[in-house]
Amino acid sequence: MRKEIAAANWKMNCTVTQAEALIDDLMAQEHHLNAHCIVVLGIPYPYLVMAQERLHGKDSYYVAAQNMHHEENGAYTGEISAGMLNSIGVDYVILGHSERREYFGETNEMIAKKINLAIQYGLAPIFCCGEPLAIREAGTQNEYVTKQMEESIFHLSPSQIRGMAVAYEPVWAIGTGKTATEEQAQEMHLHLRGIIATKYGTEIANTISILYGGSVKASNAKSLFGQHDVDGGLVGGASLVAADFGSIIDALKKDPAL
Ligand code: PGA
Repeated sequence: MRKEIAAANWKMNCTVTQAEALIDDLMAQEHHLNAHCIVVLGIPYPYLVMAQERLHGKDSYYVAAQNMHHEENGAYTGEISAGMLNSIGVDYVILGHSERREYFGETNEMIAKKINLAIQYGLAPIFCCGEPLAIREAGTQNEYVTKQMEESIFHLSPSQIRGMAVAYEPVWAIGTGKTATEEQAQEMHLHLRGIIATKYGTEIANTISILYGGSVKASNAKSLFGQHDVDGGLVGGASLVAADFGSIIDALKKDPAL
């Protein structure tokens, strides 16, 4: 059975005081998560250790870095490595976010290297894919996202890809308030699970958590997450408000699809 995941992506937001308050407010909420549901907080590097301490002993809550470098170590001033994240006990890392691709020139090839290093260092990747508006308008989104998957994660062995998290985030829906409809999300998630099944088999495809990202809000989370192949979400703006993210956590399916 695959995991249902409510993942926050705080991006470049919050002072330390705001970050502490946001985590404390989240921790004060009651969610009655069952064994299949988890919460992952993708927060800025300087606050990872603080967040780990605050989440200590809280089952179902994990911390994620929002990125890491594609080389193992060396003269890369200002960068953060997989080994560093591992050494402070980080569990997850968001890789290949469209903002990294767009503003920092990340290619599928670089993201494949990051995926390998994350796995080597025991970090669970949340691999992001998704098409820009022009591709959606041209109707070639399936081909576009298939290529991202093939070039970034389809080199993995069956045991490496098993249980991985993939986030489908249509670029036109990120931070725009324009959410994919639940039908559009389900259609793409089914396509993604299908290509994983073709490559690795249905049993493995059914272990992959496919999250939807792009203007997930308290008001639309339930209908999106209610779709058969939508296993939760990667949430930007709405994850910065504890009450909203709390509602999004509550929208996770309690009985994940098989
Ligand atoms: P958004 O961001 O929820 O603010 O659209 C999602 C993301 O970029 O992961």
